[in-house]
Amino acid sequence: VVDIAKFYKEFGLFTLDPGFRSTASCESKLTFIDGDKGVLQHRGYSIEELAEKSTYLEVCYLLDMGELPTQAQFDEFKHLIATHTMVHEQLLRFYSGYRRDAHPMALMVGVVGALSAFYHDSLNIRDPRHREITVHRLVAKIPTIAAAAYKYSKGQPFVYPNNKLSYSANFLTMMFDTPCDEYVPHPVVVRAMDRILILHADHEQNASTSTVRLAGSSLANPFSAVSAGISALWGPAHGGANEAVLRMLKEIGTADRIPEFIQRAKDPDDPFRLMGFGHRVYKNTDPRARVLKQSCDEVLEVVGAGEQEIFKIAMKLEEIALQDEYFIQRKLFPNVDFYSGIILSAIGIPTNMFTCIFAVARTIGWITQWKEMIEEPGQAIGRPRQLYTGYDIRPYKPISERG
Ligand code: ACO
Repeated sequence: VVDIAKFYKEFGLFTLDPGFRSTASCESKLTFIDGDKGVLQHRGYSIEELAEKSTYLEVCYLLDMGELPTQAQFDEFKHLIATHTMVHEQLLRFYSGYRRDAHPMALMVGVVGALSAFYHDSLNIRDPRHREITVHRLVAKIPTIAAAAYKYSKGQPFVYPNNKLSYSANFLTMMFDTPCDEYVPHPVVVRAMDRILILHADHEQNASTSTVRLAGSSLANPFSAVSAGISALWGPAHGGANEAVLRMLKEIGTADRIPEFIQRAKDPDDPFRLMGFGHRVYKNTDPRARVLKQSCDEVLEVVGAGEQEIFKIAMKLEEIALQDEYFIQRKLFPNVDFYSGIILSAIGIPTNMFTCIFAVARTIGWITQWKEMIEEPGQAIGRPRQLYTGYDIRPYKPISERG
């Protein structure tokens, strides 16, 4: 084993920080989080105000340009996004190469990565205009790509974007419209989807965002860097939490089994945890959850899902956890995934699409973080160090001499 003292002497002191829990990998002006106080801000604006007063596209503009737009700037931005919502017909052929039952995130990783083949040689990331058009293309195309992944899994024809609709209404329509049934989303459902997108737009240096920055730091094509971010998001420890909420609600099955599961959640010898409760960063309250709870109640009412057993269980769990000493003492409040899981399920979105919707929302965060990194003076390739713990140099033995 290597002599650690000698190593330090030769290479100087450095930090070992598994998971980067105390090491900042970059400076950023996009998002501020104070987990203890339950604060999340984008460019200085609180997430509660943005979710209440803004739209997802306006938040995209804010993250991208650094300021809220004037009406004229916003009209131009919406026009620019609208010009890029279609994807090339050749790109749509990629879907048919996947198994019919492929996870939609597998399609997202592949198809977004494939965008790099469409915008490659002509893309000069050192040119600010090219970086800007990359932001517009990604924000515009990602709902089209996600909705097509859903349609492919259903075996239904793709629905083309309708630029007369708002961003979220268009996304819902591309998912749910069919040639035999015109789908008109309820305004409450559109607003709830828009809020889910706003609340997931950026969350500083989480695993997928760090992945996009690291992949992009080698000056790789930004579409492929975002595809790497989608891969990182796919994992259950990152984007899969709201899917886990729905699995848990289905496992509980009937309201009379709730006490049994609450008991299991409290048992230190049982690995079971109430999914959608607690947060690694927000230790008092998840500011995004507060906002989404309101949309959750509204959606359950307008779609008439409140009486379904699964949603009754959800509401009962919420009530118990907010009153039970175990959860209060440990500050285990319902988190954003708890409410987003319920909303998405109530509006008819299958659980395997939940992470795709997260990817749609987070695309603006990924690409603006990428842009911020590329625009940094002296931008350098990301290259974490390691602490080697293996063998020191040893002689090679021919295979005939190995015991
Ligand atoms: N249900 C029951 N008990 C819980 C839960 C839960 N959901 N979460 C934490 N606890 C308990 C722990 O058992 C521990 O109890 P103890 O002090 O008696 O040992 C105490 O609360 C503190 O838990 P930690 O694991 O130290 O909290 P940590 O901050 O590490 O975990 C986490 C946060 C992973 C989110 C956890 O609360 C959890 O697993 N929640 C359920 C899954 C979930 O919803 N995840 C999405 C959150 S999004 C995100 O964090 C990226």
